[in-house]
Amino acid sequence: MSNTVDNKVRRYSGNERVNHWFTAIAFILLAMSGLAFFHPAFWPMVAVLGGGELARYLHPIIGVAMFASFLIFAIQKLGDNLFSKVDGQWLSQIGDVLSNRDERLPEIGKYNAGQKLAYWAMVLSMVALLASGLVIWREFFSHLFTIDQIRIAVVVHALSAIVLIMTIIVHIYAAIWVKGTIGAMVSGYVSRAWAKHHHALWYKSLNK
Ligand code: HEM
Repeated sequence: MSNTVDNKVRRYSGNERVNHWFTAIAFILLAMSGLAFFHPAFWPMVAVLGGGELARYLHPIIGVAMFASFLIFAIQKLGDNLFSKVDGQWLSQIGDVLSNRDERLPEIGKYNAGQKLAYWAMVLSMVALLASGLVIWREFFSHLFTIDQIRIAVVVHALSAIVLIMTIIVHIYAAIWVKGTIGAMVSGYVSRAWAKHHHALWYKSLNK
C-alpha cells in the first residue's frame, strides 16, 4: 500500500497495529490482575481475568504472549528508536516541549526523544518482567531456583511492573495530548500537517 493518500501519510501497517493493540490489551489485563495480586486494595480488579484461581493461572500465560508480541513490534521499531544528536537538543528544550513552543524545537525523525526513552523503558522493563516472571512461575520453573532467588525475582517483578505501568501512563497521556496521534495507531495514517509539524525529518524522508 502507498505511503501517501490525499492529505494523509501512512505511519503504521495493519500488522503493526494488530500487534500493538494485542500488546496493549494484554498489558491492561496483566496490570490489573498483577496489581490485584500485589495488594488487597486492588483485589476487585482480579475479576478482569475471571477471579483469583483463573487469574493466577492465566496471568503468566498472557505475560509470555505480551512479551512475544511486544518483541516483534520492538524489533521492527528498533532502528527508529536509536538516539541521535537531535535528541539531546530536544531534551535540553523540554521546557519548550511542555509549553507547546514547538516552533523552537529542532526537526525530528519518526520518534522524538521522549518516545525513544519510553521505548527503552518498555524494552528493559519487559525483559526484567519476563525473566523474573519465569523464576516465580511455580507450575513450571520455580523448582529450578532457591527460595532466595525466588524472593529477589518477586521484588524485581514488582519493581519492573511499576516502571512499565508508569511508562505506559505517560505513553497514553502523550498519545492523547499530541492531537492526531491516536489516529496513527487506529487508521494507520496521520495528516500531512501532523507529520510536518511533529516529525519533519520523517515526513521529508517519505517524499524523497
Ligand atoms: C493501552 C493503551 C495504549 C495506547 C492508547 C497507545 C497508543 C499509541 C499510539 C497512538 C502510538 C503511535 C505514536 C506515534 O506514532 O507517534 C503508539 C506507539 C507505540 N506504542 Fe502504544 N499505546 C498503548 C499501549 C502500549 C503498550 C502497552 C505498549 C508496550 C508495552 C506500547 C508500545 C508502543 C510502542 C513501542 C510504540 C512505537 C513508538 C516507539 O517505538 O517509540 N503501547 N502507541
